[in-house]
Amino acid sequence: MISSTIFVIDDEQSIRDGISLSLSPVYRVLTFAAAEDALSCLHGEPPDLILLDIGLPGMDGISALQEIRRTHPDVLVIMITAYEDAPTVIQAMKLGAYDYVIKPILMESLETSIAHALESIRLRKEVRQLQQRYLRENLPCFIAESNVIQDIMEFIFRVAKSPDTPVLILGETGTGKEFIAGAIHYQSPNFLGPLVTVNCAAIPRDLVESELFGYERGAFSGASPAGKRGLIEDARGGTLFLDEVGDLSMEAQAKLMRFLEDGEFYRLGSTKRQQVKTRIVSATNKNLSDLMEQGLFRRDLYFRLGVVTVTVPSLNERKEDILPLVRHFFVEFNNKFGRDFTGISPEAEDALLAHRWTGNVRELKNLVERATLTGRGPELLPGDLGLPACTGTTSPGLRLPPVPPGGVDFPALERAFERHYIDQALTLSRGNESEAARLLNMNHHTFRYRRRRHKEE
Ligand SMILES: Nc1ncnc2c1ncn2[C@@H]1O[C@H](COP(=O)(O)OP(=O)(O)OP(=O)(O)O)[C@@H](O)[C@H]1O
Ligand SMILES: [Mg+2]
Repeated sequence: MISSTIFVIDDEQSIRDGISLSLSPVYRVLTFAAAEDALSCLHGEPPDLILLDIGLPGMDGISALQEIRRTHPDVLVIMITAYEDAPTVIQAMKLGAYDYVIKPILMESLETSIAHALESIRLRKEVRQLQQRYLRENLPCFIAESNVIQDIMEFIFRVAKSPDTPVLILGETGTGKEFIAGAIHYQSPNFLGPLVTVNCAAIPRDLVESELFGYERGAFSGASPAGKRGLIEDARGGTLFLDEVGDLSMEAQAKLMRFLEDGEFYRLGSTKRQQVKTRIVSATNKNLSDLMEQGLFRRDLYFRLGVVTVTVPSLNERKEDILPLVRHFFVEFNNKFGRDFTGISPEAEDALLAHRWTGNVRELKNLVERATLTGRGPELLPGDLGLPACTGTTSPGLRLPPVPPGGVDFPALERAFERHYIDQALTLSRGNESEAARLLNMNHHTFRYRRRRHKEE
């Protein structure tokens, strides 16, 4: 069975034909004399592997390699080169070529290199499948009913595919920033590496540097005698989540900036340079623009952290998410606390929709947790949630005149008031009693009784 597709890009026909002849029985081989032709075919059905000559007329092999790495990072590239091209080969390997073969090509060594490359592709696919399975089985459910949150999730899943693009997540407290940071990690190629969360607001100012970068033994008084690895090193090959990044001191920001620029740092008290590759995801509910205005947050750090920026809207701006979130947490806590609520009353749902959520999803979750624990049942009511019942438009804040010094004939006023509304409602409903009763938020029997009373007067 032919399972892998290989592009061969070489301007020498004899090389194209030779490779094609030997590989065709096992692989699907497409040959191209110019890089431009191959690149335009990449957008259809990309191959698994490309054999790419370095010395090509037109677009050269190195430029083609860069383009392939940029647009199709999953496609592996084996460079074909003449002996004297050693510096170019080194450059190609640095740019992400998988391997190289030297002309005149020994088919045996080319076949070995291809076999290794395809094995590495197979392993990569297997890891991805495991990753997906792990995600499905372990990520807590993220409710995304509103278009705006669905778009954000789609966007971050695309961004997550790169292993090291920094992502800055902005948004009010409780909107789900930490949750999104986790999703980025588990969707990324680094998901097998660690996800290290640093709460920047919780580390005492004078310990930030040693916590992040670690220290050597005896670096400062009170330091552990064995020295300590920093959180950045802990995150090697994974994701470093800098939560509450807006709370970092200016000093710590300067040190972090230095690390972000070249991926290098020193442990405190050490002269040995350390290198770490990790993706930095950061989040804050602070207004960074304000902090920058006040000189409390470095502009260069802002741009470095926010190569990709995601702003999570508040719950009040995406009301479509409120009831799905409530129902989700309601089911979760109803099970957890062994309660047997039958559902959420319409009045409670109205009250939840009308509430202004300053603490966003966290506030909503806490409210549902408490209500599910303490409510009497069988239905969850506005009172259980500690929210006022929502009477909506049926309660126009009436401004009534004060009682005059001579007093009022209250029973007469009350009758006039009632008659006025009953007549109006009947006019609006064209004499339909049930509809008129509904307009006055009365049940049909009460409405009929009152109407009859007025008729009899
Ligand atoms: N869309 C969602 N679906 C399900 N649970 C959510 C969702 N958004 C947030 N949550 C839950 O709400 C709670 C608060 O979310 P999270 O801790 O991610 O907020 P945050 O934006 O980091 O807040 P803060 O700025 O205060 O740190 C968490 O328990 C999280 O699991
Ligand atoms: Mg948070």
